[in-house]
Amino acid sequence: MNWQDILARRAGRMKASEIRELLKLLDQPDIISFAGGIPDPALFPADDFKTAFHDIFSGPDATTALQYSVSEGYLPLRRWLAARMAALGVPCGPENILITSGSQQALDYLGKIFLTPGDTALVTWPTYLGALGAFNAYEPRYDRLLPRANRSAEDIAAAAREAGGRAKFAYLSADFANPTGETIDRAGREAVLALADTLDLAVIEDAAYQDLRYDGEAIPPMLALEIARKGSIEACRTVYCGSFSKTLSPGLRVGWVCAESSLISRLVLLKQAADLHSATLNQMAVHRVAEAGFEAQVTRARAAYRARRDRMLAALERHMPAGVSWTEPEGGMFVWVTVPEPLDGAALLARAVSGHKVAFVPGRAFFPDATGGNTLRLSFSAADGETIEEGIRRMGALLHEALQPA
Ligand SMILES: Cc1ncc(COP(=O)(O)O)c(C=O)c1O
Repeated sequence: MNWQDILARRAGRMKASEIRELLKLLDQPDIISFAGGIPDPALFPADDFKTAFHDIFSGPDATTALQYSVSEGYLPLRRWLAARMAALGVPCGPENILITSGSQQALDYLGKIFLTPGDTALVTWPTYLGALGAFNAYEPRYDRLLPRANRSAEDIAAAAREAGGRAKFAYLSADFANPTGETIDRAGREAVLALADTLDLAVIEDAAYQDLRYDGEAIPPMLALEIARKGSIEACRTVYCGSFSKTLSPGLRVGWVCAESSLISRLVLLKQAADLHSATLNQMAVHRVAEAGFEAQVTRARAAYRARRDRMLAALERHMPAGVSWTEPEGGMFVWVTVPEPLDGAALLARAVSGHKVAFVPGRAFFPDATGGNTLRLSFSAADGETIEEGIRRMGALLHEALQPA
């Protein structure tokens, strides 16, 4: 069968990245990989989940857990989330919350609901690869969102018109972004909100790492800043995407959207059409575990990841040659490294894997225009301190070698 002839145009934009292919090589046991960016499984509250699942199946909740349910999500979990959002400066009710199968599903729905082919999505440059993957299916054009020095609104609008559509949303991770680890300060957040007001954009706030702050003072979420200006979530254009993946478990696939209630109602229709609802059993278990000890779990995760971040930053200081620079994240899972031009991340990865047994993600994939060839993403979340030290020593050796005059 030649599927090519009958595929929809959007399928052409869904390509396996060459990096994914390279990363498949990393299963070899002697390779130290900073490529992943996944939580440390030792931190999963496995015993708490064991108790939660056991309790669910030992009482009247068993039938609820196994039956079809509402598309909005499990009400006690939505209530718990509404209270948590209120504590973050976002007073809201369960009507403002939709449970999704991870925040990844929320990104897909938001692409689907906002983008007509040819519309413009403003994204930070670089940006989360999975967001680009989710939005690509809806055939947008990408333009640069520069929170600290925004271009004029007219400039953005004119470029979007020229491309045959209009700018629809600004997508960003304000805290400890994937891939850079950087945080957008309060003034940057306010500038994006002002730009969105001028251009009549939705603001998609991807808060996947927000709970994982290791130092520095927390900055209110964009949605909280907008509510502070406009009085109520019902007057807001920010769509907050949250996730339990980085705090409790990514495997259970439980995330949420918090936004103005009429947008939530529209997203519920998409959810009905796509998968009816997220697994009730998982939502019930997450609710039980979160209610019993979310803060304690997050505190434990923060302590472990903070130590690894510190270890990685100290090792970079020790082993990197002059000319190499990196971000110093206040949270999250990533450090973003810039190497001197014309070094190229993909070529370096090939040498790193074969000659030095260390791996990372070349940065180019995170740029919609495939620039950023001289950048690399390192994750410190899944390796212990000794491994981080040795892995960064190997990367230092690779870069010393690569920077030697021929
Ligand atoms: C910035 C960002 N957003 C969203 C996601 C998706 O997470 P999930 O669907 O597990 O909530 C990830 C996963 O790595 C991420 O890094």
